[in-house]
Amino acid sequence: MENGEPDLSRYLEVAHGAGRCAVLTGAGVSAESGVPTFRGEQGLWKEYRPEELATPEAFMRNPELVWEWYEYRRGILEGIEPNEGHRTLASAEKIFEEFTLITQNVDGLHQSAGSTDVVELHGNIRRDRCNSCDARRGEEQGRECACGGLFRPDVVWFGESLPPDAISRAFHAAQSADLFFSVGTSTVVYPAAQLPYLAKEAGAFVVEVNPEPTPFTPLADLSVRGPSGYWLPRLMDPLMPRNGQGVD
Ligand code: OAD
Repeated sequence: MENGEPDLSRYLEVAHGAGRCAVLTGAGVSAESGVPTFRGEQGLWKEYRPEELATPEAFMRNPELVWEWYEYRRGILEGIEPNEGHRTLASAEKIFEEFTLITQNVDGLHQSAGSTDVVELHGNIRRDRCNSCDARRGEEQGRECACGGLFRPDVVWFGESLPPDAISRAFHAAQSADLFFSVGTSTVVYPAAQLPYLAKEAGAFVVEVNPEPTPFTPLADLSVRGPSGYWLPRLMDPLMPRNGQGVD
């Protein structure tokens, strides 16, 4: 069968009793919406060099080039809609007593799908901030901030630290989860890639959803091979509250 037929019985047993659930998503969750991933045959990093486009040094050297790349990526996002995977994760807020959605994605599609509290580890491509004073760019402002700094996309570049609040919420959620999902991520970019390992070490049942194996696969309690738009509804729908008996 196209997406494999794994035995879900152990998963369903654990998931039905789980109070705390955390989910880490990567570029793969947006692939079915038409957003390119970073790695793999069609990946952005196959065609473009990260060190020329996604580092603070690249921006200091050539802000115009870096802006061109981000305008190109913003262009890709125009008219893009969330898919079944995003929508399922938005509904999953109703299932668990505590639910933390952590994403490496900067596309904002989880929020468009209705997720109300998304931990954005790598920022958001739809926002800009000043590279000197951190002020957000207003609608009417040009490329220069009043402080003399330059506006840049509000994303985390290679060599930069992750937003401290986001990383601390993500680590806490991974370490206290009963159930953890690693969805659509190659699990190679740290510190995000550490989260499934932390969850596993702390005793969570860890599910991986990915058409391809990753370095984490051998440790996953359940690994389902296929697109997240296919698998997430199959994994989450059986847990959805019935007859209004949800978590308020
Ligand atoms: P990658 O491009 O590294 O990996 C995407 C993963 O999604 C791969 O493992 C694919 O097999 C999987 N995939 C593809 N289609 C899928 C689908 N329909 N459903 C589920 N999975 C699918 O993306 P990330 O792991 O997110 O960082 O990359 C991590 C970070 O590297 C990004 O946040 C970005 C990048 O450089 C920064 O920009 C800081």
